[in-house]
Amino acid sequence: MAKYGKLFALLTIAALVLSAFAVGGCTAPATTTPPKTTETSTTPPPAPTYKLVFPGKLTVGSDLDFPPMEQLNGTTPEGFDVDIMKAIARELKLEINYLPPQNFDALIALVNGGKFDVIASSMTINDDRKKLIVFSDPMFESNQSIAMKAGSTYTAPADLKGKKVGVQSGTTGFDWANEFLKPAGATVVPFTKTSQAFAALEAGNVQAVVNDLPITNEIVKDASKGLVIVKQIPTGELYGLGVALDNADLATAMNAALKTIKASGEYKTIYEKWIGPMQ
Ligand code: ARG
Repeated sequence: MAKYGKLFALLTIAALVLSAFAVGGCTAPATTTPPKTTETSTTPPPAPTYKLVFPGKLTVGSDLDFPPMEQLNGTTPEGFDVDIMKAIARELKLEINYLPPQNFDALIALVNGGKFDVIASSMTINDDRKKLIVFSDPMFESNQSIAMKAGSTYTAPADLKGKKVGVQSGTTGFDWANEFLKPAGATVVPFTKTSQAFAALEAGNVQAVVNDLPITNEIVKDASKGLVIVKQIPTGELYGLGVALDNADLATAMNAALKTIKASGEYKTIYEKWIGPMQ
């Protein structure tokens, strides 16, 4: 019986296929009409023109030592930028692929060298860097800050004369310290990682740290460190995602994804999860 049942099913399918052809044959227009070009037409989006280091994956390079923007939870990347990158990858229908932590001051050379597709590392958009990479639209606003041991006071750069100031190598905080604190007589000490600069501050090996305000805020929250922000510096920096100079189309695609997640409210949810109320 089962055998005949199967045969019957096959015959039914064959009949359906044939009738579909017959119907198609009858209704096919004699001449082909040009595709509609109105805004309401549903032409599929053009295939992406950007390059990817690994097909189907959005491979990210980040320093992953900059809470609450990007940090490791065990070996898992997390933070504001990480959630944004996951959302962007989803919008682009790509798998997110975070590489292990990279040194911040190597990121630009590595993205251009084809090690990863995108820098997502709280990188400030500035003219010098724009010569080396293509930035996405701004995705976050930030300022600088000076942190010192609790009980310290700071009113002007001269207060740090003869003192050591820790910074992360290759950052805008490093540049600010060199421009404003060094001429006042401070010694600027670069560290590979932000956490190393703060460890040196706790240990008393440097007397101040210049670093992005939202991150320093997060670090000094831990009262056991005994650190405070003595000065906020309104540099008005904007963070962007960075891609290789020859891969500008990837920045364009990520900008579209950023727009989508801003419009949907997802950006705000991520902001409030990691940073706080968004005004
Ligand atoms: N915004 C600063 C800059 O662009 C510091 C960024 C450091 N980022 C990091 N993930 N450690 O230079």
